Amino acid sequence: MVKQYITDNKDRFLSELFDLLRIPSVSADSRHKADVRKAAEFIKEKLLAAGADLAEVKDTAGHPIVYGEKIVDPKLPTVLVYGHYDVQPPDPLDLWNSPPFEPVVKDEKVYARGSCDDKGQVYMHIKALEIMNKQGDLPCNIKFMIEGEEEVGSDNLGKFVKANKELLKANVILISDTAIISLEHPSITVGLRGLSYMEVEVVGPNRDLHSGVYGGAVANPINVLCDMIHSLIDENGRITIPGFYDKVAELTDEERKALNKAPFDLDEYKKDLDINEVKGEKGFTTLERTGIRPTLDVNGIWGGYTGEGAKTVLPSKATAKISMRLVPNQVSGEITELFTKHIKAIAPSYVKVKVTAHHGGEPAMTPTDSDAYQAASDAFKEVWGKTPIPSRDGGSIPIVALFKKELGLDTVLMGFGLDSDAIHSPNEHYGIKNFLLGIETIVAFYKHYAKK
Ligand code: BES
Ligand code: MN
Ligand code: MN
Repeated sequence: MVKQYITDNKDRFLSELFDLLRIPSVSADSRHKADVRKAAEFIKEKLLAAGADLAEVKDTAGHPIVYGEKIVDPKLPTVLVYGHYDVQPPDPLDLWNSPPFEPVVKDEKVYARGSCDDKGQVYMHIKALEIMNKQGDLPCNIKFMIEGEEEVGSDNLGKFVKANKELLKANVILISDTAIISLEHPSITVGLRGLSYMEVEVVGPNRDLHSGVYGGAVANPINVLCDMIHSLIDENGRITIPGFYDKVAELTDEERKALNKAPFDLDEYKKDLDINEVKGEKGFTTLERTGIRPTLDVNGIWGGYTGEGAKTVLPSKATAKISMRLVPNQVSGEITELFTKHIKAIAPSYVKVKVTAHHGGEPAMTPTDSDAYQAASDAFKEVWGKTPIPSRDGGSIPIVALFKKELGLDTVLMGFGLDSDAIHSPNEHYGIKNFLLGIETIVAFYKHYAKK
């Protein structure tokens, strides 16, 4: 029995996951380059130990990709599992209650960077393989592609996919890198937002100035940058960049009604975040604001003096990192262009402005009428006793749209995290229950998918 196997091996499963979580595979930080590779090697070894016929660490121009496979019978359907072993930087470190790369269990949750996003969720798939392999009950072929650059834009993964179409041949993609609504209300993600990530630099005088000697006579780049950012969203919470909404798919009233039927408690939401009110685009609910509407947010802003005490300075420059989350049918490259053009148009003549584009990604929708979605739904029904609700997540996994474009494959987003797991934040955690139920649900998925 699958459940029994998981119960019997729970401690080992967790201790193996802890070993993976101890490797600080921060893809954004070049000082961790060797650690990122170490995590790749670890995944490879564990795939082989779980029964994969083949597992390799494939070099790219950036961090490596782990490819593995277990081909039972070429005539059976093949599932391609995608995930990432890289993690976000752990800072701010002082806000962690325990060190980010020393996993600990508290209240039945594993606390560590990557516990949920995405090492914990990737590891469920490796243990599902182990179980099916050990029990001689693997009803499909499985391929694994676990990358190390998801958190920095998956640049080299796109190239790898384009160059390895034959190797990656499959019937469907399976990803656990999203969230369920709650343990009481399991869900399957059917929509992800896209992304355009920009950097804006505003330069004023050729050097930092005394804010008394020059203040009032020379434009302050921080003030100017703030003015410009302020003008990007109007009083109704709408983004003012011309053309920004042109391609946004508007949902029908029925679709919006269905979306808002998902269980959501606004008071709980506010309480969890310690906020008095939510804020967003007028005329849309919170679920709609994160699920089906595009947004613009400043992710970081700096300039001038930020050290201890006070220094009177009129800085020479100011910089902001700004992200836009996109929805169907917006196109990341087009939005990047509209943003750049608009920022240049609104920049006052007393400053110089430089706009740079970072990574981006396209929004994605996955079908609910496919065999694979049905198999995932049946798996949840079997293991959780409930039919999962189709839901739309606000985050981005750019490779999903690319899989469709390059391989012609649909994805099933069978994630098991919770929005409250604090991914990308201090004290990221992952419920042990989510982890163990996830493994069981994945095994059930293969069983149901093979029957379709
Ligand atoms: N796993 C997340 C995306 C996610 C989180 C989807 C929660 C749905 C629910 C992924 O690792 C991530 O963080 N993606 C980045 C995009 C990437 C291009 C840096 C994101 O959404 O910011
Ligand atoms: Mn992720
Ligand atoms: Mn992430």
